[in-house]
Amino acid sequence: MAEIVIVASPAAAGVLVASEIVRLIESRPDAVLGLATGSTPLPVYEALRARIGGLDVSHVRGFALDEYVGIDPSHPQSYRSVITKEVVEPLGLDPDLIHTPNGAFATIEHAGEDYERAIAEAGGIDLQILGIGTSGHIGFNEPGSSFGSRTRVKTLIEQTRKDNARFFDSIDDVPMHCITQGLGTILKARHLFLLAFGEGKAAAVAGAVEGPVTSSLPGSAIQLHPHVTVVVDEAAASQLQYADYYRYAFANKPAWQGL
Ligand code: GLP
Repeated sequence: MAEIVIVASPAAAGVLVASEIVRLIESRPDAVLGLATGSTPLPVYEALRARIGGLDVSHVRGFALDEYVGIDPSHPQSYRSVITKEVVEPLGLDPDLIHTPNGAFATIEHAGEDYERAIAEAGGIDLQILGIGTSGHIGFNEPGSSFGSRTRVKTLIEQTRKDNARFFDSIDDVPMHCITQGLGTILKARHLFLLAFGEGKAAAVAGAVEGPVTSSLPGSAIQLHPHVTVVVDEAAASQLQYADYYRYAFANKPAWQGL
């Protein structure tokens, strides 16, 4: 089972996950981070910024989860731009070591394979940060995604386009297609951190953690992974049946186990 950590606030979640990332980089300066976009991981990047002071991050590598198809990388809402603005620049990472799937039309047919090859050549992802969509998607793996899927082009469901319309002028500007790491790709990362905040995520979190393992709720794929830490605030935890047990287990966790 995933370890569920219920924290008081998104900021507390950020500090917890950032500490783990710092520990990883200290032990492995060329660590490979799996980076996520969306509002959820922002407290992690913020906390990381505060912690990174004396740390040499010049060798840190990174792979984003997903990208829109047919959006120019310089567009402010391309995930390349978002990762650059929210992660690469504030943390002082080397942009040449941070990858996003290539959503350009011209090369889209083999962009998924290219991305998989790049991840494999980097030795795989050490620590993957994940948010979860209200549809239960992780990355952009919408309901119905295969648990064996690798990086490929997907069609966004209407709900996700609606959810993401807030970043664009109108819903019509939200791309129809995306390229995303597959559930099979995500499951290969060595340690998954799934974060969720707010009541709007409570059903998706409960489904992912305690529901049946089903491609109808792609986040439930985490139940197949041997090392997952789910970090949620009280509101996102509000539909978890065993919340009290998770609190008790975390409070009594042997310190040597770490996260
Ligand atoms: C997008 C991203 C996902 C993210 C989800 C939730 O669709 N592709 O990786 O987890 O949105 O976004 P937010 O964190 O803003 O709620």
